Order: sequence, then structure tokens, then C-alpha cells
Amino acid sequence: LVLILDYGSQYTHLITRRIRKLSVFSLCLSGTTSLESITRLNPRAVILSGGPHSVHTPDAPCFPDGFLGWAEANGVYVLGVCYGLQLLVQKLGGEVRVGEWQEYGRMEIEVVEGGDGEGRLYGGDAVGKEQTVWMSHGDEAARLPEGFRVVARSRQGTVAAIESPGRRLYGLQYHPEVTHSTLGMETLQHFLFNVCGLSPGWKMEDVLEQEINVIKDLVGPNDHVICALSGGVDSTVAATLVHKAIGDRLHCIFVDNGLLRYKERERVMSTFESDLHLPVTCVDASDRFLSKLKGVTDPERKRKIIGGEFIAIFDDFAVELEHKLGKKPAFLVQGTLYPDVIESCPPPGSGRTHSHTIKSHHNVGGLPKDMKLKLIEPLKLLFKDEVRELGSILNVPQAFLKRHPFPGPGLAVRVLGDVTQGNALEITRQADEIFVQAIKDAGIYDSIWQAFAVFLPVLTVGVQGDQRTHSYVVGLRAITSEDGMTADWYKFQSEFLDNVSRKICNNVRGVNRVVLDITSKPPATVEWE
Ligand code: XMP
Repeated sequence: LVLILDYGSQYTHLITRRIRKLSVFSLCLSGTTSLESITRLNPRAVILSGGPHSVHTPDAPCFPDGFLGWAEANGVYVLGVCYGLQLLVQKLGGEVRVGEWQEYGRMEIEVVEGGDGEGRLYGGDAVGKEQTVWMSHGDEAARLPEGFRVVARSRQGTVAAIESPGRRLYGLQYHPEVTHSTLGMETLQHFLFNVCGLSPGWKMEDVLEQEINVIKDLVGPNDHVICALSGGVDSTVAATLVHKAIGDRLHCIFVDNGLLRYKERERVMSTFESDLHLPVTCVDASDRFLSKLKGVTDPERKRKIIGGEFIAIFDDFAVELEHKLGKKPAFLVQGTLYPDVIESCPPPGSGRTHSHTIKSHHNVGGLPKDMKLKLIEPLKLLFKDEVRELGSILNVPQAFLKRHPFPGPGLAVRVLGDVTQGNALEITRQADEIFVQAIKDAGIYDSIWQAFAVFLPVLTVGVQGDQRTHSYVVGLRAITSEDGMTADWYKFQSEFLDNVSRKICNNVRGVNRVVLDITSKPPATVEWE
């Protein structure tokens, strides 16, 4: 295990992911985690992340007292990255000062010759003598603690890498986890395998087996488990895994809220039933949702109504199950992912908000408070790409695993204003299907994070078949993104757009104009409401 202690850098998750990509299991905890918790995890190496602080500020976060002594006594390797390096330097009696050069962005560094010969951190210069790295810091190491040597310097002469191999302490002033650091991955690989002596061995197959055993231990032989399937990758993979562990004591519900895409209910139900053999109850609640949404135009009110309705339906489902089984379901499966777990406990003073709270509107309404179900979250240590890999092993069809994300409130956030106005939902479904199918046909679906049509409740004048028309506008949105938090709009070829626009106007009744959304996030959000 490699443990990452998080001091608030925006890149901390990346370190964790990069290490897992090298088939070594890594976990990320707050930078002020107690020594007791660290000891319990028994890591082979600990990486101290970067962060926005200066070690000189009074409340600068730091590893717990006794940490370095414990690491040395137990043969644990420590690598400080950026702020992490500065923490090491300062705590061990060196000097960190505000740098002469504020170094942000790409920077050339060079391995320093000499000293006692071999710089272990780069295996001499085996990783590469010169490299471009990504710096992002104001402070710098001015004087190293005793026993340390400089292993690399930037062109401006600042310390870029240090080590004290006898005490297994290492530091990088730059961010090796960022792709702009040209030999970053090689450096991490060298550190893990050649310096720390770890070997690659962490496999998704083992994760699957472990999780299945955990669930088998947790859920008693007469216990029942429920799960709300959204049609998305996370809940589907979580349910499939739990089903493998406990079979048909899992009971899933899929709700058609009348806000789904073209043929979506049929498509996802066929995957659940025919491909994955999941026990699913499909509830058609379109009328229930749409009658509650009639006339509602405020986006937040729309979301709240949808969330509330989901809770009510889920409650009904649990009561029905209790009658049928003669006992209450005891557990609930949720497809929570690792980024949500990390983000829900940000390091102190990191300035990072609890994105759990930011995203709570993203979950399908939460759960009834009095259900008292125990949670099963089999994906809570995994990143999205790892969940896809796990899904593959569980035979979830590739086309399903690669589907673009779809928001819980569905088309309600893509039909602007009242979702029940005219045939807005039908127009959106048809335009969306044409657009997304064209993207698939062009072979660019996998290069796009999300693509969809939105309904604009605006009537414009047009001319179709020599007739004057007064019809609606459809907007097209396609974005590229790493995680949905920031996004850029996708640059289509104009011929592609021309074809899609013609096809929509010719085939979707009630539309005579198509526009393209060319806004990144920020300032816009991905969805229009
Ligand atoms: P925004 O519009 O906030 O979207 O920039 C970022 C990502 O989140 C998805 N999204 C949602 N997902 N329930 C969800 O499950 C929601 O209420 C919701 N709102 C936005 C959006 O599709 C994009 O991937």
C-alpha cells in the first residue's frame, strides 16, 4: 500500500490514480490523519502531497507528531511533493523561504551530477538527465536539513529534487503526477519499484473477489438488500457486484420518471434483464412526475420535486418488499465513488469545499430519513475508470459502460422551463437521438464526455416547404471533460453539424432552427438548468 497524505493540492487525486495505474494500491487520506490510523494501514511508502499553503503560516497543515520517527523506525519510505517537500525540509531543520522566482507552469530541470554519486531518486540519471516538469509554488528550499542532497535543479537554480536515502526520505519540488511533467510517470515508477522495492500486483480481479467476500460477510443469510438503478454505470456495476455476492436477495428498482431519453427505458431494462440478469422492478411513474411538474419553471423547484418524488416511490417499494418478504430490507446499495469519499473530508485549511454538498443535487434526491438502512458501497475506493474496468470483468456490456453520463433529473434540466409545455419532451428526445446517433456514426462518441440536445422555449420564424413556420429552437451541446467539473465545448467539423441540423429540422416536427452551444464550463455549466 502507498498512502497519500493530502494537503489540499488540486492534483492529489491524480497521484493516487497514477500509482494505481502502476498496479500498486494507493489510498488518500487527509494530511493531518493521526499516526495511529497511518500505522494501522501499514503502508510501504507515504507521499506527502502538494497544497496551497506556505509552511510559514501559523495553521499550515502537517503530518502528526512522531510521523517521521515512526517512518524511519519501520522502514517506511517518504516522498514529499511540492508543499510536501517543504514540510520535510522545515520539520527536519532546513530552511524554506519565499522563492526569488515564483515558479508556475512548465520548467526545465536537470539531474545534478556528483555529490556522493548516485541520486537514488532518478537512479543516477536512468529516468532521464533532463526533463520538463510542472512547477506550481512560491516557496523554495533554501537550505537542506543535514543528510540531504540536491538531486535536481531547475534552470533558475532552485532545488527541484532532494533525497536522504539512508533515512528513506525523498522530495520533489514539482508535480510528477501531472502529464505536463514529461518523465513524471517514469519517476514515480522508479520510486515505487526501484527505490521502495514495491512490485506491481494490484488487480481489479482481486478487488472484485475482496468486495464479494466483504458483502458475503456483511449480509446475513436471511437479509435482503435494495438498490435504486439509475441506468448509469456506477449503480449498475455496484448492483451487478452485489448480485454476484448474494443473488436474488438483492432487489433493484428502476423508475421511469417520464424524463428519460428516446427508448431509454427499453434499452436499459434489456441490459439489466437480458445481459446482467438483475432482479429489477421497473416502475412507470411518468404520470406521477409530470403532473407534479406541470407549470413549474424554476430549475431548483423542478429538481426538488423530482428528488421528493423519487424518495416517495422508493419508500413505497421498500414497504411492498417488506410485505412480500415478511421482513424489512436491511441494506441499501449505493454506487458512491472514491472522489466523493475523498472530497467529503477535505484537509483542514485547504479551502476546498465539501463537494458532497455541491453535488447533493446531483444524487437522485437522497433517501427517506427514517429508512435506517445500512449502506453497502462496494465502489467507494474506486475511480470512475476503475469502475468501468470492474464492470468489464462483470460482463457489463462495453456500450453500456461507455455511455455518456445522464443527470438524475433527466430531461427536466434539458427542457427549459415547464417540461410539460406542448410536445417539448418528445422534441427533445427525437433531436437528441438524431444528434447522438450521428456522433456514434461519425466514430467520435468516445472522444466526447457528454452530448445532448436541449429544448429552448423560443418560437422563431422559418420557412419550410414554402410555408412560413413559427417553431421552436433546439440547442446542441457537446463537451470534453475529465470529470464534469470543468469542460470545453467539442469542436465538430462544419459538415457534420450541417447534416445534423438538416436532419433535425427535416424530421422533428415543431423545430425550424438549430443552434450550437459554444460555451465552456465555467462560465456555463454542462446542463442548461
Ligand atoms: P453541471 O450542469 O453541474 O453538470 O455542470 C456537471 C455534470 O453533472 C451532471 N449533472 C447531474 N447529475 N443529477 C445528476 O445525477 C443532477 O442533478 C445533475 N446535474 C448535473 C451533468 O450531466 C454533468 O455530467
